[in-house]
Amino acid sequence: MRIGVIGGGLMGSGIAEVCARAGVDVTVVEADAAGAERAQERIEKSLDRGARSGKLSGEQRQAAAERLAYSTTVDDIAGADAAIEAIIENEGAKRELFKRLDAVLPDAEFLASNTSSVPIMKLGAGTSKPERVLGLHFFNPVPVLPLVEVVRSIMTGEEALARARSFAQDTLGKVCIDSQDRAGFVVNALLFPYLNDAVRMLEAPTRLGEGGERKAVPGGDRLVVAERLRAELTLLEEPLRELRLELASKDESAVLERLQQLRGHALLRRPREREPLDTVRVGILRRGEAAFRKQELPE
Ligand SMILES: NC(=O)c1ccc[n+]([C@@H]2O[C@H](COP(=O)([O-])OP(=O)(O)OC[C@H]3O[C@@H](n4cnc5c(N)ncnc54)[C@H](O)[C@@H]3O)[C@@H](O)[C@H]2O)c1
Repeated sequence: MRIGVIGGGLMGSGIAEVCARAGVDVTVVEADAAGAERAQERIEKSLDRGARSGKLSGEQRQAAAERLAYSTTVDDIAGADAAIEAIIENEGAKRELFKRLDAVLPDAEFLASNTSSVPIMKLGAGTSKPERVLGLHFFNPVPVLPLVEVVRSIMTGEEALARARSFAQDTLGKVCIDSQDRAGFVVNALLFPYLNDAVRMLEAPTRLGEGGERKAVPGGDRLVVAERLRAELTLLEEPLRELRLELASKDESAVLERLQQLRGHALLRRPREREPLDTVRVGILRRGEAAFRKQELPE
């Protein structure tokens, strides 16, 4: 099987690595040569980590690296059996890309997006065969976390859905859950209201009491997570202040680089230390990035 992964950032490189480790030939398409180089570096480092920790033999590591090709043009994935898109979360860019994928891959089994928030229906609508467009929502870090949400839009067909599900489950060995094409799919739709509620409850601490009383509240674990979240937000104040200074210098690339570094740090924790909070923290940094792009960084 051969697959195209478009976007070799945090998620795309993880998805490409997992595919190559599962014996699939992969072409990673990045926006430019520097992006392709970064993607290759990231994947090779991760394969090295896998080999060092004994999850991969030296031969398996080598074989996976040889199944990977890197490119800067979607034309290079012509003839692939399927594509998974993991470019930046920008609806316009994704819609354009799906039109292009539709033209380059007329016979592909499915065209999947890893989006967390763009409706799959909108991506399918611009293609000639919306029945083969669906979501495969992986979680970071892809080589470690088993879950994939398989997202169907009202236009997704059974055949593409079955093939994508079988690819994620049988070929990649992931655990799949089905999701409707709705905000937050399943995981984020559960997680964010849960945390938001807990944060709101913490805002009225006198009613909830402290310490022992909190532990006695059914669902008190939420409060613990919310408390940690509040601490994380406090920790982010300093970086945001620094960012405002950089923003004042109008050096856009420096600010974006800094935000991306911060997002990277939020994700570089060891698996046993990782928890839902990371998703929230990355979300906050993403919002910061979006705000910066609109020149609206918070005061
Ligand atoms: N980060 C997460 O935890 C997470 C989890 C699940 C889903 N997602 C989704 O996955 C997608 C990618 O997120 P990410 O965190 O990997 O972002 P990222 O910024 O790390 O990577 C995006 C990559 O896409 C490349 N790119 C941009 N436009 C391109 C184009 N037209 N063609 C080819 N490459 C292009 C960029 O150069 C960049 O390397 C987003 O839709 C995001 O919402 C992210």
